[in-house]
Amino acid sequence: MFEFHPYFTNDGSVGLYSPEFKDIYHSTTGALTEAYEKFIMPVDIENLLAKDSIKVLDICYGIGYNSKSFLNLILENYFLKISQKNNKHAKQYIETICTNNNSEKNNNESVSNYSMCTETIDTHNIFDKIYIKSVDIDKNLFFLSPFVKTGVKNFKNNNFDFEYKNIDKYLEKEKIKNPKKIHKLINFVIFEKIIKKYPEILQNEDIIAILDSKRYNSYFDSNLKGIYEFYRSERCKCTLLKKISTSLHNIYYQHVSNCYKNDLKRYNLRDFSFDPQIGDARDIIKNDNNLYNLIFLDAFTPAKCPCLWSYEFFKLLFEHLEQDGMILTYSTSAAIRSAMKEAGFFIGNIYNERLNKYTGTIAVKDSAKIIHSLSEFDLGLLNTTAGIFYRDENLTSQNEAIIERRNQEVKNSDRLSTSKYKKNFNKIL
Ligand SMILES: C[S@@+](CC[C@H](N)C(=O)[O-])C[C@H]1O[C@@H](n2cnc3c(N)ncnc32)[C@H](O)[C@@H]1O
Repeated sequence: MFEFHPYFTNDGSVGLYSPEFKDIYHSTTGALTEAYEKFIMPVDIENLLAKDSIKVLDICYGIGYNSKSFLNLILENYFLKISQKNNKHAKQYIETICTNNNSEKNNNESVSNYSMCTETIDTHNIFDKIYIKSVDIDKNLFFLSPFVKTGVKNFKNNNFDFEYKNIDKYLEKEKIKNPKKIHKLINFVIFEKIIKKYPEILQNEDIIAILDSKRYNSYFDSNLKGIYEFYRSERCKCTLLKKISTSLHNIYYQHVSNCYKNDLKRYNLRDFSFDPQIGDARDIIKNDNNLYNLIFLDAFTPAKCPCLWSYEFFKLLFEHLEQDGMILTYSTSAAIRSAMKEAGFFIGNIYNERLNKYTGTIAVKDSAKIIHSLSEFDLGLLNTTAGIFYRDENLTSQNEAIIERRNQEVKNSDRLSTSKYKKNFNKIL
């Protein structure tokens, strides 16, 4: 049975907990902030936008923060350019797209705001060259992904329905000031594209129950929920009585849906290709012939989901990366970095400006793409027991078997232990 355990992270975006992996899906600092800082900011967007086509592989889509943040960035970038040209409509929009500075208006008002601009802006040469393949094993997360809110202010997290050490303490920490927000149009277009590929979302009992439940109301966008209801009643053969009771609701949400559609048309936002794929990322990528400019790798930690961090998996990713492409991940583990290196990548750090520290790893084929090299200490760490990587020869092993195999290898290894290495290194300093 599908379990859903949402809460608000410190930037007002929804985070989830997985009882299966006994892990949180997102950083408590902010699910959306994490997506921006680890997966989006390190990308050389100007260089990318100059290309004729841009292919992105989002491994472990979850509720979609990385794919959506990427699209949001393109939208921000686009509006920034337009506003520099003094377009008055774009100036009106830029605040609502880029930050949460504007206080939330009521739903009706925000719908009409999106429809204020009547001129058509030609953006087809941006969105129509973008292809995003998003992969996750959990179909329900895909289906819920367009509905989750971001940039919510004054949220309350009173009732955690899961056990995760110190989560409430992390969440007591300082909230993110002026957090980012995913534009409603992006959620809407993702919703449309998911429905197109997986129309069963409209009949999925788990999704209907979760979206209907009052308990989760605060986590979901009410407009999109209304549109979902509207689509459902359009497609199902309702009784006359039901039709009458839903007709007022439908008139309103047909109007909302039309407003969204008009705006999407205006900005050509629908032109990007979105390819949501449900299944084990290893199988999906094995059968994929694309070469990607960007690969986001956002699996649960290596100790919990090693099948997406093995040497063989990185070899597979190497075959799917453009010569000037880049893999981005939040992990800084030595076992991951050494697997990447062994698979043929050059590796570097992801620098987080807000925290003034390194918070992730990039893997590239072209060493010139590395801005923040690994330190002497980090490079040495790769040769200790910590740097022994996970193995999954046929890309079919279970996580438990992969972990067990590595544990044995660590136990039998004559490499320097990580603690001794650290001691020796400190002595030299
Ligand atoms: C840390 S979460 C990803 C969070 C996500 N990027 C987001 O924005 O919500 C890890 C995800 O990995 C998915 N997952 C676990 N094993 C997988 C596998 N073998 N193949 C594909 N996805 C997998 C889980 O369903 C979960 O959604």
